[in-house]
Amino acid sequence: MNWTNIGSIEQYPTELGSCVKVGDAQVAVFHLATEQKWYAVQNFNPQNERMVISRGILGDQEGTPIVICPLHKYRYSLENGECFTDEQYRLKVYEVREEGGELFLKGG
Ligand code: FES
Repeated sequence: MNWTNIGSIEQYPTELGSCVKVGDAQVAVFHLATEQKWYAVQNFNPQNERMVISRGILGDQEGTPIVICPLHKYRYSLENGECFTDEQYRLKVYEVREEGGELFLKGG
């Protein structure tokens, strides 16, 4: 799969989510500034079939970085997409990397 340039890192706020469209997919991108890490998961929340994950709240579950959906507070791992609230749900996780001030996403 190819890497897609999704723009300058400066357009992404820290400790918040942003939504980008890559092909037909909406992707929620998060920058955890303290850890200097980027995460990207599908924006679509399977629990209620809403495009809301990019507006989620960042948190931590026993050392795993998570996003908490803003509607019903379901908790998802940013590392592998696992849902801690209900294991039947899972988010697709995208590889994301920074290079030369630009952000790249794998797949779409
Ligand atoms: S829509 Fe996200 S937890 Fe319900």
